[in-house]
Amino acid sequence: MDISPLGTLARTHTAGQLTAQDVGKDVVLLGWVHRTRDLGPFVFVDLRDRHGLTQVVARNNDSLVADAKRLRAEFVIAVLGTVVRRESPNPKMSTGEIEVDAREIRLLNDAKVPPFSISNEDATVAEEMRLKYRYLDLRRPRMQHNIALRHKATMEIRKYFDENGFLEIETPMLAKSTPEGARDYLVPSRVHPGEFYALPQSPQIFKQILMISGMDRYFQIVKCFRDEDLRADRQPEFTQVDLEICFATEDLVFSTIEPLMERLMALIGKPAPRPFSRMPYSEAIATYGSDKPDLRPGMEIRDVSAAFAESTFTVFQDVVAFGGEVRGFVVKGGAKYSRKDLDELVDLAKQQGASGLVWARNAAGAIQSSALKAAGEATIRQALESAGAAEGDLLLLAAGAHEPTAKALGALRLHVAKKENLLDPDRFEFLWVVDFPMFEWQAGEGGVPGRYEFMHHPFTAPLESDAPLLETDQGRARARAYDLVLNGSEIAGGSIRIHDQAIQRLIFKLLQISDEEARSRFGFFLDALEYGTPPHGGIALGLDRIVAILGREPSIRDVIAFPKTAQAQDLMAGAPSTVDDKQLRELKLKAL
Ligand code: AMO
Repeated sequence: MDISPLGTLARTHTAGQLTAQDVGKDVVLLGWVHRTRDLGPFVFVDLRDRHGLTQVVARNNDSLVADAKRLRAEFVIAVLGTVVRRESPNPKMSTGEIEVDAREIRLLNDAKVPPFSISNEDATVAEEMRLKYRYLDLRRPRMQHNIALRHKATMEIRKYFDENGFLEIETPMLAKSTPEGARDYLVPSRVHPGEFYALPQSPQIFKQILMISGMDRYFQIVKCFRDEDLRADRQPEFTQVDLEICFATEDLVFSTIEPLMERLMALIGKPAPRPFSRMPYSEAIATYGSDKPDLRPGMEIRDVSAAFAESTFTVFQDVVAFGGEVRGFVVKGGAKYSRKDLDELVDLAKQQGASGLVWARNAAGAIQSSALKAAGEATIRQALESAGAAEGDLLLLAAGAHEPTAKALGALRLHVAKKENLLDPDRFEFLWVVDFPMFEWQAGEGGVPGRYEFMHHPFTAPLESDAPLLETDQGRARARAYDLVLNGSEIAGGSIRIHDQAIQRLIFKLLQISDEEARSRFGFFLDALEYGTPPHGGIALGLDRIVAILGREPSIRDVIAFPKTAQAQDLMAGAPSTVDDKQLRELKLKAL
């Protein structure tokens, strides 16, 4: 079968379009061979394009059948034929009522045998293979669906912001370093040897300048670049839906984002009841051991220190006496856990930084606990009661300083929730986490003293009530920063900004950024602040994370057309790569 030119042949329908109403029509379909079934006197060919699959049958004459028998998966073909009703309809396919009775099949291009099957959705293919042959991986119906979903989300977002008076404005990619807490990707300047642009970690400073410029409402769907350790929900280049609003309050930002999320959820037919709940950071840590709590499994962490304050269990009693806490959460029906299950939980709690884990349960009336001997039955019974554990439940307890104890239990809580199948992918729980601390203490290392680092970024305003703390007790000062959390994933972060130059200078001082450094890094911004800066605020949504959740994909790599590996490599194109000496010479650079 020779390869034919496309010539003037035009597609009349896509492969996802034909229904019983088209029976009798003469059609031309163009696409890829998904699979073939050779039944001897006739051959079925599933033709695939982005829109779906159509069954083609070759049976009209010997040469047509012979041609169809030569087709292999991923050959590119044109089918000319008539739509007929199928003898045995397939209700699972949108085109399942019909098939195309081929008059002619033209081969437009052949294909090497692909390294993995495109048609077998159940086959597990190593991710490295998928990324190396991304052009084939993207042909798989799952990826076609994900990329189309991303497109729909992006379109909805643009429409929404346009309807709400936002201007889409592009900001530079060749820029100056913006502090978002990660390392920069640098681009050397040829014209200015020894000088570098930084790819933006976010358009933060530019969008604030756009507010100073009176643009009122800005948005951008924008690539951001961060050289940081990668995980399933982090890429070195990722996409933000970035926005900024003049005269913004928290309420204005939230009431802008919530209807947008509602529209995005509608793309998958799910509601997003408004208003979303709000929770202070301190409560999120105390109750869920995380600043991005997944609310789906319940299992709140409670303080049960009172049960141990007077007990004989000296380990816990000492913790309470020295100002620490005993905290725990209840696993409904967890009394059935085996010894091995419990040992695993103890190990995990230790890995998460807890000094230990005590379990307790009321199994058919019998009080059991890993601390039964030391604490006595009455204390354990009291702890079970105050934590709300009923018969058949399991109580997991850890003791120590408030935050590390809560965080260790938070990690354990998620582990148990996964194990117990409590993370229903069809439930969507939104939560605003508010009142983050302004600063985070970074312990010193190798003789370098510890210091405060910003928690969000250094342009975030303090809560008005906490402003006096900046001078006296900065560790306790809270910020007008907020994150939007969906099912335990941080899908957005933002803040109300500092619009007063004096406070901005003070924050730089507290962060130990010298006047000189502040001037060289952000001088233009400090200058701009002096020319009538309106109060303003904004937020950035992580588009990749949102689309992954909408598509029920565990990794953002599955909703990005050309993602990087966890080692920040593009396996298909082979980036990063060395460059030739001439390029380096022009840039006045030397590779080590
Ligand atoms: P932030 O750093 O919180 O805020 O980023 C906003 C959102 O972007 C997503 N995100 C990422 N997604 C994939 N890979 C990454 N490496 C990655 N890093 C962040 C998250 C996050 O919530 N300039 C501020 C926004 C503002 O203050 O308006 C900023 O960039 O979903």
